[in-house]
Amino acid sequence: MRKELFHNVYKKDDKLYTKGGKFEEWNPHKSKPASAIMNGLKNFPVKKGMRILYLGAAHGTTISHFSDIVENDGRIYAVEVSGKIIDKLVEKAGKSSNIVPLLEDAKFPENYGWIGKVDLVYEDIAQRDQTTILKKNKVFLKKGGLIAIALKAKAIDSVRDIKEIYKEAVKELSEDFEIIETIDLEPYEHDHLFIVGRLK
Ligand SMILES: C[S@@+](CC[C@H](N)C(=O)[O-])C[C@H]1O[C@@H](n2cnc3c(N)ncnc32)[C@H](O)[C@@H]1O
Repeated sequence: MRKELFHNVYKKDDKLYTKGGKFEEWNPHKSKPASAIMNGLKNFPVKKGMRILYLGAAHGTTISHFSDIVENDGRIYAVEVSGKIIDKLVEKAGKSSNIVPLLEDAKFPENYGWIGKVDLVYEDIAQRDQTTILKKNKVFLKKGGLIAIALKAKAIDSVRDIKEIYKEAVKELSEDFEIIETIDLEPYEHDHLFIVGRLK
């Protein structure tokens, strides 16, 4: 029997699944929110009906699972800067009613201001300025809206102590967000901290 951990997120025999039309395995080695759940994340921020701004969409591996969770009354605005990568995402979005791909740079939120307010801003961008990018995109959050980021320490600084980088990033994000939970993604992803917070 699969056990439901969160809405439309199931676990059985150490494997995770999301349920859309059918159960799809959610690989924690390929998707950071799945790694966080496998490591015991309590405050999973994605919920049925949510409007989500997703920064760093890539091919949409994680997005297709978020799409299962938010269901048809939710919406995922999927921002990806690479034109080569977005093709696969557009294909995926064509098969789903709740994914809107945007070929944009997340450093310039003013270019997609038309999306309006969202319940959650999720970021997975391996760039030196990943916390700054997230802070810039807080303009989209509703009052009390949530953020989650898969922070990649090595992209911020490849030589400094990882724990120090995490500490600094959390401090920086705390200026704008109340930090609800942090969880290390080892052994699924090296040097990544998953952070969940709420707009202050
Ligand atoms: C680690 S991958 C994302 C993986 C994806 N979130 C998943 O779980 O399926 C990071 C992505 O961020 C994109 N990216 C990097 N800088 C960006 C920016 N400034 N704006 C939007 N996307 C960006 C990259 O092109 C890459 O596809």
